[in-house]
Amino acid sequence: MRKVRAGLIGAGFVGPLHVEAVRRLGYVDMVAVATSSPETARKKASALSIDRACADYRELLVDDSIEVVHVCTPNYLHYPVVMEALERGKHVICDKPLAIDSPDAREMRDRAGQLRRVNAVTFNYRFNPMVQQARAMIARGEIGRPRFVHGFYLQDWLLHETDFSWRLDPEQAGASSAAGDIGSHWIDTAQFLTGMKISRVLASLHTSVPIRKKPAASREAFQSVSGDQHKEEFLVTSDDLGSVLVEFEGGATGVFAVGQVCPGHKNDLQIEINGASGSIKWIQERPDELWTGWRDRANTLLVREPSLLDESVRRYANLPGGHNEGWADAFKNLMSNVYRFISEGRDPVDDADNIDFPTFEDGYRACSIIDAIIRSNQDRSIWTKVEY
Ligand SMILES: NC(=O)c1ccc[n+]([C@@H]2O[C@H](COP(=O)([O-])OP(=O)(O)OC[C@H]3O[C@@H](n4cnc5c(N)ncnc54)[C@H](O)[C@@H]3O)[C@@H](O)[C@H]2O)c1
Repeated sequence: MRKVRAGLIGAGFVGPLHVEAVRRLGYVDMVAVATSSPETARKKASALSIDRACADYRELLVDDSIEVVHVCTPNYLHYPVVMEALERGKHVICDKPLAIDSPDAREMRDRAGQLRRVNAVTFNYRFNPMVQQARAMIARGEIGRPRFVHGFYLQDWLLHETDFSWRLDPEQAGASSAAGDIGSHWIDTAQFLTGMKISRVLASLHTSVPIRKKPAASREAFQSVSGDQHKEEFLVTSDDLGSVLVEFEGGATGVFAVGQVCPGHKNDLQIEINGASGSIKWIQERPDELWTGWRDRANTLLVREPSLLDESVRRYANLPGGHNEGWADAFKNLMSNVYRFISEGRDPVDDADNIDFPTFEDGYRACSIIDAIIRSNQDRSIWTKVEY
């Protein structure tokens, strides 16, 4: 593979995981980083062994030697950073959700298409080998037509009133916290597994901790701070809990819950699909396992072992059976597909049918579903059509 030069914008929780993932590919050089200030950029550059710390993201984007930009900032910055990166000719890998609402996401998708830049969104759960295996089994009809798709994505890192994140500020995150942040992952995984699009939703969103103590200094996701750092009260308007009924084009129905205040649940994404003849279930915190359920024979638990997976899926299983693979490995698999496309110089419009990673189109669709969830909740939980 030819060498590809990349830059990182935003280096809090997830940015360093982008760096680690692309370094594992062996042919990507992460050459520059920009964060919210020159000082933090210098610190992050040193911690991540990146040569160049930029004063701000614009300084990084004017570097013509950088071909690919990773956008790992809070959500409200995705739109301006991505649009400028595209205008400067960069390929863009943007973290999810693509934008704070679907009109912004649509513009980003359209501009990337017009400029023929490779565009990717990090819906990384698609790239767990057992998720790929489940998709392949469903696609070839092993469980029959999907009828019921259900599950949840629960976390506990915002349990206490002293827990705070920009995700709770609608100006930085968008109107929804839990549904937008982790619901977008569940939605994408459900659509990816079934091959069906969500067409209608009925949502009930809740704010279980309405007043929080905001720390004086901003901090990265999943970090706790001691009590004396809490200065001002913050009135929360976005959801930290939600329940959503969904309907899919093609007739399947479903339901999922999201929560950031559920004690004991760390990163607990679970999804089950009941088809006309069988069921299939994947649990993110037990990523190497895939459960299948049957009425007239024994249920099975397939434990990841490359030789037992579909041939088309084996490339996503990097290690032999018994050598656990998880979140970071799936993230690397996503980057591997995106960078192969880039390094081969393929055109995202001409070669659209052969794209094997989530694009801005998928990011836009997820934002459209989140918008419908927010509208449904505002309209006292009525069935609401997803507007694409
Ligand atoms: N794919 C996943 O599973 C996953 C996981 C976590 C976060 N995310 C997404 O990644 C993004 C970042 O989330 P996070 O948890 O890493 O947040 P974070 O708060 O930990 O980090 C945000 C980073 O953005 C930087 N930043 C803020 N303003 C900036 C500016 N003007 N210019 C440049 N950099 C700026 C901050 O300095 C910090 O380095 C969000 O969109 C989030 O939804 C995705």
